[in-house]
Amino acid sequence: MKAHRFDSFDSLDALRLHEDIDPRPQRGEVLVRVHAVSLNYRDLAMLRGRYPRKCVPGHIPLSDAAGEIVAIGEGVRAFKVGERVISAFHPRWFGGDMPSTIAQDSYGAESDGWLCELKAVSQEAVVRLTDTLSYEEGSTLPCAGLTAWTALAGPKPIRAGHSVLVQGSGGVSIFALQLARAVGATVIATTSSAAKAEKLKALGAAEVVNYAEVPEWGKAVRALTGGRGVDRVVEVGGPGTIVQSLHAVALGGEIASIGFLSTENPGIDFFQLKMSGASLHNITVGDRAGLLDLNRAVAATGLKPIIDRVFAFNEAREAFSHLESGAHLGKVVIRCVS
Ligand SMILES: NC(=O)c1ccc[n+]([C@@H]2O[C@H](COP(=O)([O-])OP(=O)(O)OC[C@H]3O[C@@H](n4cnc5c(N)ncnc54)[C@H](OP(=O)(O)O)[C@@H]3O)[C@@H](O)[C@H]2O)c1
Repeated sequence: MKAHRFDSFDSLDALRLHEDIDPRPQRGEVLVRVHAVSLNYRDLAMLRGRYPRKCVPGHIPLSDAAGEIVAIGEGVRAFKVGERVISAFHPRWFGGDMPSTIAQDSYGAESDGWLCELKAVSQEAVVRLTDTLSYEEGSTLPCAGLTAWTALAGPKPIRAGHSVLVQGSGGVSIFALQLARAVGATVIATTSSAAKAEKLKALGAAEVVNYAEVPEWGKAVRALTGGRGVDRVVEVGGPGTIVQSLHAVALGGEIASIGFLSTENPGIDFFQLKMSGASLHNITVGDRAGLLDLNRAVAATGLKPIIDRVFAFNEAREAFSHLESGAHLGKVVIRCVS
């Protein structure tokens, strides 16, 4: 089978196509023909030395996939050949506290990911894909979709009447916008692009603030809520955006701390953090139980993931470049079958 591997993390040119031996499912494993994979910022961060975990070169990148089960190993009861599945971002986090295997299981960083034609994994490392989504759409759920779901789910679930701030127009933020709208919450979005602002409004954002033109965008967001602040911030900017997020959040609100897109790190003031009255929820995508819940929610609401562009299997480098350009809105996908 064909598989792309990062032979090193020196440059995108180090992403090379390899001919590997076809995997065979062992006891308890399913063999998945990968139909589509989607990219996340983390896949780029590994290449640019910005991923905050250990990254070992030589692995197949990408954590998020959708495919068809083409063979099953001995003892597999959960799935049959022909079923459509998606990968679980954390293949051994089923629920409860995070397992200690989180780092070593990290697809693309310390274990082989999904940018390949065939993959054998434990039957517990995939979940059934809802019939309402195509393979391309399904491939966007495991990381971006589940992270947004986790950010809105709790500890205090977002519901009708709540307000949610989403930052930028990347994969996690667009899912958060869609999921928040699906439960009747009000969404305020930020972006650096006037053209994307219109698209964010079309997707249901009540207000959009241009963070490139309004440096104090957190205060602007607070003003848009009548001075109260938002109930939830879906924080994907990280060190360079957290101060504005603290201006934007309501007393008793929650900042779902997710990302590290910003490159600057001016630090935050302890008293601003304390006096915001908000809680900080540190998110690591989510567990398998959450992915099952997300699938059910997507099926019930008819939510369609927003795909910016689909690349062919042999255009993997172009897909990474497109993500890096920041021109996308929503998800960048690679189709693995022709
Ligand atoms: N902790 C977790 O569980 C978890 C899970 C998933 C993702 N993440 C992290 O969350 C972040 C987002 O991931 P993603 O895959 O959704 O990214 P992405 O799709 O690559 O998002 C890129 C978009 O983010 C916006 N952006 C870039 N820099 C920004 C800044 N300084 N402030 C505000 N917005 C900015 C831009 O939108 P505009 O063009 O509209 O300005 C850009 O187009 C990444 O840091 C990723 O590693 C963490």
